[in-house]
Amino acid sequence: MTNKLKYFIGNWKMFGDFGSFKIINKVNKFSHESKNLSKKKIILCVPSTLIHFFNKKLKSKFISLGVQNCHYHQGYGPFTGSINASMLKKAGAKYIILGHSENRAEGETNNLIKKKIISALKQKLNIIYCIGETLKEKNKGKTFSILREQMKSSLEKKFNINKIIFAYEPVWSIGTNKIPKMDKLKKTIKFIKRDFKKNFKTKKTPKVLYGGSVNDKNIRLFSSISQIDGFLIGGASQSSKKFIDIIINYYK
Ligand code: PGA
Repeated sequence: MTNKLKYFIGNWKMFGDFGSFKIINKVNKFSHESKNLSKKKIILCVPSTLIHFFNKKLKSKFISLGVQNCHYHQGYGPFTGSINASMLKKAGAKYIILGHSENRAEGETNNLIKKKIISALKQKLNIIYCIGETLKEKNKGKTFSILREQMKSSLEKKFNINKIIFAYEPVWSIGTNKIPKMDKLKKTIKFIKRDFKKNFKTKKTPKVLYGGSVNDKNIRLFSSISQIDGFLIGGASQSSKKFIDIIINYYK
């Protein structure tokens, strides 16, 4: 069993209501009971409408709560339907997913994501920054150049890297039950760490998670890659049983 800290982050997407607190409750109970098993960090990124309620209800040393996006503007403003990082922070968010491919597909650019990262850093939120190539880009052999571009154009050297965790999520693997070949995945995770250090002239190795169709059945495969610092889990995080089984099976 590894002794390195591993992240298990749930991305609930546009699912869940107030009753979904029972999922958090069960995961909390599990993390309490298994606290000596391993070094793990559990974070649940829920819809913004639920963060305040869940934050008030949750008493846990083991689970942190986060959200899934924000508006780039730092203060209040005439942005109908939007929520800024400061409002989310005040509502109880500790983490925020930014740059998810489902939002990139809606028109979010690297430059817009950069503005959101700046806003979130200002609020001292911890950022889970999603990067990843599409199937077309993969087939053209462009994976590494796309990842480099997503890092270079959304981040600056002066950003506090301690507040940013990368989530490598190949777009073709999200919600498709397709996962990368393990040798390829290992190379890609190593590339992200190496390339970031080189381009941002830092000795600090960033944390890099994997995301895309992670489930309780395939999680064992990933444990062979020690360079992966954890997982961003979509569909399977909306069931407490599946989410808990992912953690249990990872350490088996
Ligand atoms: P998935 O989603 O686990 O359902 O593939 C992952 C994500 O979108 O973060």
